[in-house]
Amino acid sequence: MQHGKRPLRSVDGIDVAASVLARLAPRALRPAIDQLRLDARSIADGFRGVREPTFSSHARPGFVPTPLAEIDPVLELLPTRALKRSYSTLRRDVEMIGRDFRGDRVPPTITRPRRTMTATTTPSLAPRRVKVTKLIRETRDAITIRLEALDGAPLTFEAGQFLTLHVPIDGAVVRRAYSLSSAPADGFAAVTCKRIEGGRVSTHLHERLREGDVLEVLGPSGTFVPSARMRRLVLIAGGSGITPCWSIARAVLARDPDAHVTLIYGNRSEADVIFGREIDALASERFRVVHVLADPSDAHRGPRGMLDRATFERIASELDIDDAEHFVCGPAPMMDAVREVLLARGVPRTRIHEERFQSPAERRASPIASPQLVTVRRRGRDVAITVPPDRTVLEAATERGVALPFSCAIGGCAACKCKVVEGEIRMDEPHCLSDAERAEGWVLTCVGHPTRPTTIEVPT
Ligand code: FES
Repeated sequence: MQHGKRPLRSVDGIDVAASVLARLAPRALRPAIDQLRLDARSIADGFRGVREPTFSSHARPGFVPTPLAEIDPVLELLPTRALKRSYSTLRRDVEMIGRDFRGDRVPPTITRPRRTMTATTTPSLAPRRVKVTKLIRETRDAITIRLEALDGAPLTFEAGQFLTLHVPIDGAVVRRAYSLSSAPADGFAAVTCKRIEGGRVSTHLHERLREGDVLEVLGPSGTFVPSARMRRLVLIAGGSGITPCWSIARAVLARDPDAHVTLIYGNRSEADVIFGREIDALASERFRVVHVLADPSDAHRGPRGMLDRATFERIASELDIDDAEHFVCGPAPMMDAVREVLLARGVPRTRIHEERFQSPAERRASPIASPQLVTVRRRGRDVAITVPPDRTVLEAATERGVALPFSCAIGGCAACKCKVVEGEIRMDEPHCLSDAERAEGWVLTCVGHPTRPTTIEVPT
């Protein structure tokens, strides 16, 4: 299996000059001009200390020259990104009008991307019943589960969101969050689940789930969603962290012809690459793919080793991606390494988007014996709710019509984080709060039970 087309080399002055010359010269001279350009670039790259572009090494992704025909000198000479975007849009519109006049029946206008992202889904604590319509084996330890809502309404979502599955195992319902791997335009909802060694839910889904089975799901929810104004994205995924990234990549590339996406995807070997064939088939000038493999075959031409700090630093330098929006999803050590590198390279925190899931809490016997009063404080206003022993603070608040922030509802995302002002909230374990956050008084309402009258403050 081939993993990823090699990325295109950036265009420089030699390429632009050759492009102008090729447009002015007779068609027969263009191959010679192109060859001259490639030779000149090789010499110039050599003087600048850039790796010889016709070679690639295992340690660094190989680059191929941008085809001469794809270089637009006007675009390259425009000084700002905004001007380039406007010019691209104008050029595309003119081309479309031209095609329309030629009778190609292409609409002369295009749909502009929305300026702001508005969530199309509202998280609800009421689960929906869904049917498993298809099971697809992606790799030896990953399956995709296609789902269809039984209430007849489509399961709509945004790329990057997740569903919380309620999985009945041995008479109990266990909840796990899985990112949607399908794209909104696919017309169906699908999650992809990697089997975890000793993982109760993933083992059950892999061994026992059948097409036609009915599950309950919560969501979709989550904010790991690119806004419509984001046109230059870098997706950094490790293992099953590809699932939201794959959805995002396809959604962004489909909705905006000016969007450019780079995927940096770490795995152990070729056999572990989820969606490998589809990813490679989509690779293009607008979708650069770098596969990082720890234990690849001899045929692998991309970076080798773990997607760790050193490897990512090398790739980030090579690809010139610092001004993009970065979406990171994968094992915690990989995410920590990527974050460190990006921050060290001066990428603002606001352009680093992370999807972290901890092992979710499992519902155990409630730590409280009797109903307790919880006062919810938001922007100086207090609302009191009673939390029964068999309810979490979030559930009791929602049932009372008191809106609290939340997302996964299983202690895995921290979207429901509130601060205890007075009293005590005990949480089902494990959950995603750090010791430092606990020490500061933060609690998760979705897994929290008050042990006595308590006041919590909702961050604004
Ligand atoms: S909603 Fe995700 S941790 Fe509470």
